[in-house]
Amino acid sequence: MSKKESFGSRFGTIAALGGSVVGLGNIWRFPYLAGENGGAAFLLVYFFVSFLIVVPLMIAEFGIGRRGGHNVFGSLSRLTGSKYWSKVGYFGILVCFFIISFYSVVAGWALDFLCEAVMGSFKGVTAEVMRQRMDGFIADGSGSVAWALLFILATAAIVVLGVKKGIERYTKIMMPMMVLLLIGLSVYSILLPNGAEGVRFLFKPDFGKINGHVILVALGQAFFSLSVGMGTMVTYGAYIKKSENLFKVATAVSLSDFSVAVLSGLVIFPAVFSFGINPTSGPDLIFITLPQIFGQMQGGYVISIVFFFMVFLAAITSSISIFEVLAAFLLQEFNLKRRTAVIWVILALIVSSSATALSMVPGSSLKLFGYNLFDLLNDASSIWMLPLSAFLMTVIAAWVLDKKLFREEITTHGKYGVRLYPYYLFMLKYIVPVTIVLLFLNQIRII
Ligand code: TRP
Repeated sequence: MSKKESFGSRFGTIAALGGSVVGLGNIWRFPYLAGENGGAAFLLVYFFVSFLIVVPLMIAEFGIGRRGGHNVFGSLSRLTGSKYWSKVGYFGILVCFFIISFYSVVAGWALDFLCEAVMGSFKGVTAEVMRQRMDGFIADGSGSVAWALLFILATAAIVVLGVKKGIERYTKIMMPMMVLLLIGLSVYSILLPNGAEGVRFLFKPDFGKINGHVILVALGQAFFSLSVGMGTMVTYGAYIKKSENLFKVATAVSLSDFSVAVLSGLVIFPAVFSFGINPTSGPDLIFITLPQIFGQMQGGYVISIVFFFMVFLAAITSSISIFEVLAAFLLQEFNLKRRTAVIWVILALIVSSSATALSMVPGSSLKLFGYNLFDLLNDASSIWMLPLSAFLMTVIAAWVLDKKLFREEITTHGKYGVRLYPYYLFMLKYIVPVTIVLLFLNQIRII
């Protein structure tokens, strides 16, 4: 294997990790879930489950990666020394492959919309017209495929440069840029007539809206949005410096995730309320509802360009991290050069992403169990595979790994978080696995 790669600075570490967690999950998924599940009440629940349930597992993944020093499979097999437990690593890699296959399709749409925004084609559109355009675009298939492949190549172009010179260097530029654009957009949105209504929706909780289902939706969203449960954080964990405080890094990373979710809400809800639209329009929110709003608002031309460019930045810093899970695995386990590993991943993704995009074309035969591949991967990965893989990862961290070694790594050799550790371990051993099981049972509609 080539010499060990790592992040250079704390800011770079947080930019790369923040880049992974902040993505379509925050800008596309979070607002529509919050819209459907009571706004402020959902935000509040999201905050608690992120910090209490998901962050402990994130810290464990960092520890496994840093101690194992390898990709998710390599780290698990070195640390557990077991043929069986290391298979959990294969599973994580498979899920990452599935996720990036549909993630690149959605990110490709964002690129297409960026292009449309530049051409000014949202002017005066109605939701009806947007829906027809979107359906037409998906039905054609070739556009979807081309944009998804372009997105994959852009991702690969950064990953191929390596951890420090590629991932860290570019996320250090892209993340602050993305956050600045988002702040600018939110100020504009809040100042729209009646924008305050949207702010109220996001911040004034109606506690009556909180129920078991809402909590579990928030939990599922937190896993996805914090990139936890399938090895991304193990892979990146291997690049975290030996002297770094893992509790601090995880807090900074999850606070960025939360802030960006709030900021996206502050961009979307004031605009939605200002134009008298219902905030519960689901996954269509950013691709159908927003363009309609951009088409009517003053300055909508510039705003739409800024918005879709920002979505692109958020998406690519996340896809870099998923791509890296696959590349690091090939590179380390098969002793390949980084470039060769990246080429293999590109080839695999050309097939899987194209198939995913084409499976959405009406009448396509790319179907399994009656679902098209897009819905299958999107649902299968978040409903079935994510909780399962997160559960197994928790069991390994809390029950299988050597207790002394695990404590040593999580507390950075007794330097940080020593007093917190017993509480931390309690959460990881009992609360986290139990809530994941509940999440799973809820998602397969048993509770
Ligand atoms: N967290 C990213 C988002 O919010 C997506 C993502 C990146 C991810 N890596 C992941 C999701 C690993 C699950 C697992 O868009």
